[in-house]
Parts: sequence; C-alpha cells; structure tokens
Amino acid sequence: MERTLIGSLREYIDSEVQIKGWVDVARFQGKMAFFDFRDRTGKVQGVVFGKPEVLEIAKELKPEYVVAITGKVNARPEKMVNANMQNGDIELEITNIAILNESAVSPFPIDGDTRMVDESVRLKYRYLDLRSERMQKNIRTRHTVQKFIRDYLTGENFVEVETPLLSAPTPEGSRSYIVPSRLSQGCFYSLPQSPQQYKQLLMIGGFERYFQFARCMRDEDTRGDRQPEFTQLDMELSFVKEEDVISLNEKLLIELVTKCYPEKRIQQVPFPRMTYQEAMEKYGNDRPDIREDKNDPNLLAFLWITDFPAFEKTSEDNVDGTGEWTFTHNPFAKPKDEYAEDFLAKRNISNIISTQYDITLNGYEIGGGSIRNHNASWQKNTFEIMGYDEKRIQENFGHMLTALQYGAPPHGGIAWGFDRLIMLLENEPNIREVIPFAKTGEGKDLMMEAPAKVNENQLKELGIKF
Ligand code: AMO
Repeated sequence: MERTLIGSLREYIDSEVQIKGWVDVARFQGKMAFFDFRDRTGKVQGVVFGKPEVLEIAKELKPEYVVAITGKVNARPEKMVNANMQNGDIELEITNIAILNESAVSPFPIDGDTRMVDESVRLKYRYLDLRSERMQKNIRTRHTVQKFIRDYLTGENFVEVETPLLSAPTPEGSRSYIVPSRLSQGCFYSLPQSPQQYKQLLMIGGFERYFQFARCMRDEDTRGDRQPEFTQLDMELSFVKEEDVISLNEKLLIELVTKCYPEKRIQQVPFPRMTYQEAMEKYGNDRPDIREDKNDPNLLAFLWITDFPAFEKTSEDNVDGTGEWTFTHNPFAKPKDEYAEDFLAKRNISNIISTQYDITLNGYEIGGGSIRNHNASWQKNTFEIMGYDEKRIQENFGHMLTALQYGAPPHGGIAWGFDRLIMLLENEPNIREVIPFAKTGEGKDLMMEAPAKVNENQLKELGIKF
C-alpha cells in the first residue's frame, strides 16, 4: 500500500490508508491502545481496539519507534472533536502495525518545548531535538525565507555565486580560523570571515549583481547572537550609490515580512534612519531598540544607521591594529565624497565619515555594508592611514590593489546576519534555535565532539609539532 502523509489524512475519511513515521506518544488502557503518530507533515491519533493480534504488537511500541501503520480513517463523533488540534476531527482505527525500527529511550521528551531541556543535552542529541515541533518549524521556515530571497534576487537579475572556503585572511575585525596546508608545509589557508574580497572581485569580474548564502567563520567569543560559524545573505552591486543598496534591501525586507510573516507588523515604512552620532548620543549604542511596544511579539522596528566614522583609534582588542588608526567595519569602505580631501591628505582622520550603513532590527544589528573604494589609490590610502608599510600592503592586499587597476566599476553591497534575522522573526532568544547544528558558547560541537585532537601521523604529514 502506498504511504499517505499524516497532513492529508482528512481527505481519506472512511478509507484504508498506510502512514509511516514515529510514535510520538503511546498509552495503554486494558484492551485498548492509544497513540499519537508523527511524520514531517504533522500528527494524528490512532487507536487499537477489539483486535487482540494487533494489540499484541501495539504493546511493543514505545516513543520514537519508527512504524508503518495501516488503518481506517474515521471521523470522530462530534463530542470527541478537538478543534484546536491538527487532525482533531479524525482518528486512525489501526488494523496493522509494522515496526520499521526501534528506538532507545530519548534522553528528553520531544513532544513539548525542548527549550526547557538542558541545552548541552539538546546539542549532544541534536537530531532528536530537531524532531520537536518548534525546531522543525524554525528550520523549515528558514528554508522558506531562503527560497523567497533566492527567487526575489533572481528576479532582480542577481546571480548566486559560490566563493571559496579555503582562502587567505580577510580583515573583518575578528580572528580567522586557519587550516594547515599539507602540500605547502608551514603555510595556512584561512577560513573566510565573509566573502568580502571575493564579492568585490566578482564585480571586477563583470557580474554586476551577485548574492550568496555564505558560510562565514569567525574565531570570536560566542554569545547568544553569535556563532563561530554562521550564515550571511551576502550581496554586491556595481554602479550603485548608498541609496540604491538601501532601497533594494528595504524593499526585499518588506516583501519578505509581508509574504513569509503576514502576522507581523513593521513599525515604520520607509524604515527610519539615524546617524551613528545621533544613535550614540540618544541611546548610547549603535543598534537602538526603537519599538513602541517591546512586549508585542509581532512588532518589527527596522532602523538604518548611517554616517559611521571611517576610522577609529587602534585598541588592544582590534586584532588588526598596527598603527594609530584602524578601520571601524572593514578597510574596503569608501569615505563619503565630501571627506575626500581630508582622506587623501590624511588629516582630520577622526572626522572622516564613511559610506558604511547598518540595518538594525529590534535592538540587533542584522546587517551592514558600504560603498567600496573602487579606485586603487584610494584603497591604498586607507591602508596607509592604518599605518601599513608598503611591504605589508603588498603582501596582504597586493591582489586587491592589482585587481582594482583593471577597470573596477564603482560598487557596493551589504551582508545580512541571516541567522539573526530568522531568530528575530521566529521570536527565539538566541541564534542556536535557528541553526540546525549549533555550537556551544565555547565553540564546541557536542554531538560530533569537535574540535578534537588529531593523531600523530596526521600532524607529521602536515609538519606540525606541539
Ligand atoms: P559584518 O562583519 O558587519 O559585515 O557582518 C554582517 C552581519 O553578519 C552578522 N554577524 C554574525 N552573525 C552571527 N554570528 C557572528 N559571529 C556574526 N558576526 C557578524 C551580523 C552582521 O551585521 N563583509 C561585510 C559586509 C559588507 O560590507 O558587505 C561583513 O561581513 O548581523
């Protein structure tokens, strides 16, 4: 018999069907057995009565057993209808049970809100946590939103391009993860903190409109809204100004909320804007939560922050700082035209404002970008302000400066913290709830037990000795 999905059982009242899935709940009462079964489309109740041979097998069923259940779909008598439940008006009268696989006892209940469970246990048995209704919804909605964005940007003539993971360091203000090379001993790849340089090189490569759901790796202390490995919706456009990037992204965010989250309300359209200075003076931070009602779970207060200073004094926790000045976001952002004279003369550095813009939502920075230096001499000037000598500039960024000399179009872009956006849309307290295989605060994967020691031979092959 062909499998029927639980979500479509209501179309089969009075017919015999077979479902396949997991036992969600099992209860036994004398000569009767009651079950909830679950598949990817939902849950349904099943009963065994008056069939001793079926009851015999039914008694073996425990939660999380994988089963094929044959039975007749019955409409429930009116008194028994539960209108608040999926399939609350039907019931499966079980005629046959096949056990497809047994299950060990789950270390925590899956049929409730698993956020109540010790998170280290959830992460160790993530595959079980993923079976819970809430996690299923989070990951499935993540896909729906991703699909919406892909379609939207494709419709706007963007191309999705994948960029390398084994790369050279990009300065993005954090530490990079490094990967030893076997073939070039003593040399290392760097995992990208973002595809920043590649996307700019794609503009020089003539694509004009690029996007990617990009995996980014940053070796920084993990917090609720940070993971060592996360996903950006990354995009870059040629022949654009700040306003073009901002308005395209604003339209996309509005459409996305309207289509994927119709129950939500955007507080203000067009999104309000605030300069960095205003935000710092008024709120003391550059991602203020401007919601009128912070208790309304359906309220979305988007806010653009603009006019960031281009440079800041080097501090100890800026890992890239060598000279007196360093970049505030990344070194590729172009200063605003009105500061060109000071910038090129390397004076009044602290006053220079960059084209950087951030998009914030309900007090979180969910994205940031800028117009870039498309002119090699401007780009070099930034490195000089940062105190890099010629040798370091050539070693670290020679490839970018060379590429910029071959007809680089004016370009700019943005990257969204995709996990953060989904976290906020799903009203989750941290990004681990929307990342299928998340890491702990210490950057550990408790399920795979990573990071892990490697054996002596592997180290020897790589020429590494501790
Ligand atoms: P930025 O470094 O601001 O910009 O990153 C863009 C967005 O990514 C999110 N984000 C993170 N999310 C989860 N875990 C992390 N560790 C983490 N770090 C950052 C934030 C942030 O706004 N290349 C530039 C973009 C550009 O200029 O186009 C960049 O990476 O939501």
